[in-house]
Amino acid sequence: MSDTEAGDGRRSSLHGFWSSKLAFILAVTGSAVGLGNIWKFPYVAGENGGGAFVLIYLLCVFGIGLPIMMSETMLGRRGRRNPVASMMLLGEEEGGGRWWGVVGLSGVAAGFLILSFYSVIAGWVLAYVMQSMAGSFVAADAATVKSLFNALAGNWQATAGWHTIFMVITVVVVARGVERGLEQAVTLMVPALIGILLILLGFSAATGEFEMGVRFMFEPDWSKVSGETVLAALGQAFFTLSIGMGCVMAYGAYLPQETSIPATATAVVCADTSVAVLSGLVIFPIVFANGIDPMAGPGLIFEALPLSFGNMPGGVFFGTLFFLLVGFAALTSAISLMEPAVAWWVESFATTRARASIIIGLIIWALGFLSVFSFSLLADFRFLNGTFMDNFDFLTSNVMLPLGGLLITVFCGWVMSENSVNDELNIGQSALYRTWRFLTRFVAPVAVVLVFLHAVGWLDWLMARPIGS
Ligand code: PHE
Repeated sequence: MSDTEAGDGRRSSLHGFWSSKLAFILAVTGSAVGLGNIWKFPYVAGENGGGAFVLIYLLCVFGIGLPIMMSETMLGRRGRRNPVASMMLLGEEEGGGRWWGVVGLSGVAAGFLILSFYSVIAGWVLAYVMQSMAGSFVAADAATVKSLFNALAGNWQATAGWHTIFMVITVVVVARGVERGLEQAVTLMVPALIGILLILLGFSAATGEFEMGVRFMFEPDWSKVSGETVLAALGQAFFTLSIGMGCVMAYGAYLPQETSIPATATAVVCADTSVAVLSGLVIFPIVFANGIDPMAGPGLIFEALPLSFGNMPGGVFFGTLFFLLVGFAALTSAISLMEPAVAWWVESFATTRARASIIIGLIIWALGFLSVFSFSLLADFRFLNGTFMDNFDFLTSNVMLPLGGLLITVFCGWVMSENSVNDELNIGQSALYRTWRFLTRFVAPVAVVLVFLHAVGWLDWLMARPIGS
């Protein structure tokens, strides 16, 4: 980021600007591509029966996620402040009222909750870097790999240790504000990750049940689709794109005025989707070839991938590199999860970035213990949707992010004047603009509301009532 003004005469950013359009694309891609693509997508797809879920997910990504990502970027750039302050300011400017700041606040809260469990999973990834390097997976079979994973997850001291290491790294990076280093990391990481996924894909195709995997992912079995499946797909779309919680808004605040929002958002969404689909194509053939249960849940990739690495030439090298890259991908997402909170804290309490990062990091680290224990001490303590971690995950991905996204699209579609929108999107009255506006005003909000109603069973109840009664 440079500290120079964008030179557009509009509001200036309090934290400087991205050095280029590519830097912004890389930063948002770094935020979007993470555990959501490699760890969560395959296991949620597995739990929800594959094909139909994947298709609904893709529809959500392009029909709802992309327009919301554009909207969120636009709000960030127009507000040029942290998400809470930006929403308050724009709410007032556009005649909607300062209470729109709640969108930002809910994002700050979601960031705390998500990072608290995200860091636990990322910690396991770090542990797997060491395991790969030590050769623990060499020639291993499914049972060995599964017991390795259970030993790690069930050992709260080890899990807590790795969670702590990951949080410390995240806080150090956020505190130093080393955006330049990050830009470079992402430039290398995303292509390297795609490269190694392609190598793995080759291995899955050669040795796994590839056809079964592809069928599982793309052959929809509509009979398996329920309100919860659709909600899970919607939640996954929000989570993987990092939208609905002010993270894209925070990054948008540092975006120079002349950068095209539709082009950057599309690039990010396509990169993110490719990584998720590739991960699924890598995982499921291994899952079926080794009799692993696709419904294995959060341990799925940790039970499947080491089987490939353990049985392929150069597996120690590729395995280590892969988990290292996933760790990096998680780090660039973790940083973005802290950004709304840190920017808000710095601006509201007039403190330094370093101090804000440390305080916020400590709170998140402590909260993380509820997820650490979810696989050991508190594994049997279940309420609502399961363990603490299950509940944090459900509450954020499936409730808070979609609600945040709903408010964002309603704001951009209905509250903000067309002049302001045109100022930011700068695509005139083109077909692209009209599509965006239609999706933003009608499709995205209605879809989110319908999914909620469907998930809680109200839609069926409403539909079952004879008209007029
Ligand atoms: N999109 C990230 C991932 O897929 C997670 C994330 C969610 C990051 C929300 C920021 C905000 O791993």
